This record gives sequence, structure tokens and C-alpha cells, in this order.
Amino acid sequence: MKRKSRIIAMLLTLLLTVTLFAGCTKQQEPTGTNQPPQTPAGEETKTPEPSKPAEEKKIKIGLSLATLQEERWVRDKEVMEALCKEKGAELAVQVADLDAAKQNSQCENLISQGVDVLIVVAQDGEAAAPIVEKAHAAGIKVLAYDRMIMNSDVDLYLSFDNVKVGELQGKWLTDNLDKGNIVWLAGSPTDNNAKLFKQGNAKYLQPKIDSGDYKVVMEQDVVDWKPDNALKLMENALTANNNNIQGVLAPNDGTAGACIQALAAQGLAGKVPVTGQDAELAAAKRIAEGTQGMTVFKDTRELGKAAIEAAIKIAKGEDPGANNTVNNNKIDVPSILLTPVAIDKNNLDKELIESGYLKREDVYGN
Ligand code: BGC
Repeated sequence: MKRKSRIIAMLLTLLLTVTLFAGCTKQQEPTGTNQPPQTPAGEETKTPEPSKPAEEKKIKIGLSLATLQEERWVRDKEVMEALCKEKGAELAVQVADLDAAKQNSQCENLISQGVDVLIVVAQDGEAAAPIVEKAHAAGIKVLAYDRMIMNSDVDLYLSFDNVKVGELQGKWLTDNLDKGNIVWLAGSPTDNNAKLFKQGNAKYLQPKIDSGDYKVVMEQDVVDWKPDNALKLMENALTANNNNIQGVLAPNDGTAGACIQALAAQGLAGKVPVTGQDAELAAAKRIAEGTQGMTVFKDTRELGKAAIEAAIKIAKGEDPGANNTVNNNKIDVPSILLTPVAIDKNNLDKELIESGYLKREDVYGN
């Protein structure tokens, strides 16, 4: 019995030694080598995982702008550039200079560069549809920025409530002109927004027209939103009516500036109410001086931020969080729509200066 218990004791000691030794060798496994640690099958490795590919790879966003003609697009671009920098994303920008064919080929270029998402401000809402098809064929999602891309499967639309923009313009004009001859200009016929603005204008202007209070002496589109085109139209309207014009619906600040130039040449600047849109610095100055009645503030800081945030989410396969849908004659496009604000001399300081959008010294010169 004694011998048997000695053998058991020896075996136990041996087992303990082997176990301890095995434990020691495990602890002493080299850590600084390039060899991946050996993990028993089915056991989770304790080694820190390399960071996930989505975090590692820099997101690349393509931005195709129709124009930088209006100050607002410069601001939109700057906001997006700053935010991409902050978020560690790359932004590749192309500007089509009001040329729809050029925009399509610039977008093809961005697609072949392998952008993760494409943001497009369409020069021509209909002509931009193939951009969406080509991007989709390459697995790239497309965001229509500010202007809808029509008849396409565009993935997301980010804009303001554009009918509301037109309503704000129409309301201001009818609040500030009871009766008279009016010039009613609309934006570029290739821009879907121009139709929406005009639809909003009509809500207020049409009843005045129908009642005979307003006589429309000119109703025209401003091709490409060009101030030069608006200038010629306004000069013609003044000449044809012997300056007998009492109100001007100008669709944005660029065209408003041109109409006011034509009015000024006849000594009528400040005497005829003129609308606008975009809260450009030049427009804010004219409002302060009294030659332009109003503008519409669409905070590009907010829209630019929403677009980059949405683009990054889409690139990561996340839901961008649309709060609306807008039909583009093909589908109901998931949309993010922000609210525009009417600005006149009464709220210019509060909305534009105190919010930091414009500088007091730039607007008032002191
Ligand atoms: C935009 C306006 C801009 C106009 C001309 C429209 O689509 O909504 O803010 O003034 O284009 O560029």
C-alpha cells in the first residue's frame, strides 16, 4: 500500500510539473515576432484586431457643381471642403461652367476615379439622369444637391423647400405692392428649382393677376440664371412700357442685381420693389440701402453639412436619415429638406449678421 501511494504521489508531482511547465511556456510565448499567435480552433484571439477596413480607407466624395457664378455655390463648396477635412474624407470637385455635356463627362471622370459617393448640382435636371445610371453601374450612389435630377433613380435629394422659397418671394411682393404693372422673371428652364419657385410665386401673384390688381407686362425665364440675360430683359421691359413698372419678381439675387441696375439707369432704383434669393452679400447691401426689398436665406452651411454627413453615412453603408420624399417623375426620392427664411431690412441683422453668415462691416461698411 505504501509503495502504491508513493507511486500516486510521484505521478501527481509529475502531472503538476508538466502543467506548470506548459503554463510557463504559454506565458513565455514570444510577443514581438511577425508570426500570428496560434489560437486553438474555435477560440477567439486576444490579439487586437487590425482596424476595420471602412475606418482605415479614406472615404472619397465626388462633387460636381454646375457653376460658381453665384456666391452661394462658392460657400456650399467651402463648407463641404472644410467638413471633409474635419472628417478625414477626400473631396474631388469639378465645375461644369453651365455646360450640361461637360458636367456629364466630368462626372464620368469622377466615377472612374472610384469615388465612394457622388454629389451633383445638376446644370440640367433632365440631362443629368445618365450620370445616375453610370454611377449606379459602378456601384456608386448619387446625391442630388439643391437641384433635383429628374427621371432617374437618384439615391437622395438634399435641398430646401423650394415651393416655399417661391411663396416667400410672392408674399413679400404682394405685401409691398397693392396694384400695378409687374415684371415676373423665373430662373433657368433647365433647373427644376425654377419651376418650383415659380409655382410658389403663383400662389400669391395669380390671385392679384386674376383680380386685375396686377398686370404682368413681362413674364420670362432667365436662361442659365445669367444676370446679363436678366439685365437685357429688364431694360426691354422698361423701354416697352415707358418705365411704367411698379414691381419686379426677380428669382434670385444675381438677377435682382441686374434688374436693379436697369432700374437705376432710369432713376427708379429704390422706388420699385424687387425680390431676390440667396442672401448674397451684394443683396444684403442693397437691402440695407433700400434698392432691393428682400432676399431668401437658405443657409448653405446647413445644407453643405447635411450633404457631407449623408455622403459619409452612405459610403459606410448606413442610412442617411431622409425626412421626406420628393417625386422626380420616376420615383419618390428620399429627401432631406431644410427651411428657407425671408429676409428684409427688419430681420437682416438678426438672421444674417448675428448668425455669423455675413459680417456687419461687409454689409454696412463700418
Ligand atoms: C438655386 C438658387 C440659385 C440658382 C442659380 C438654384 O437652383 O436654388 O439658390 O440662385 O440655382 O444658381
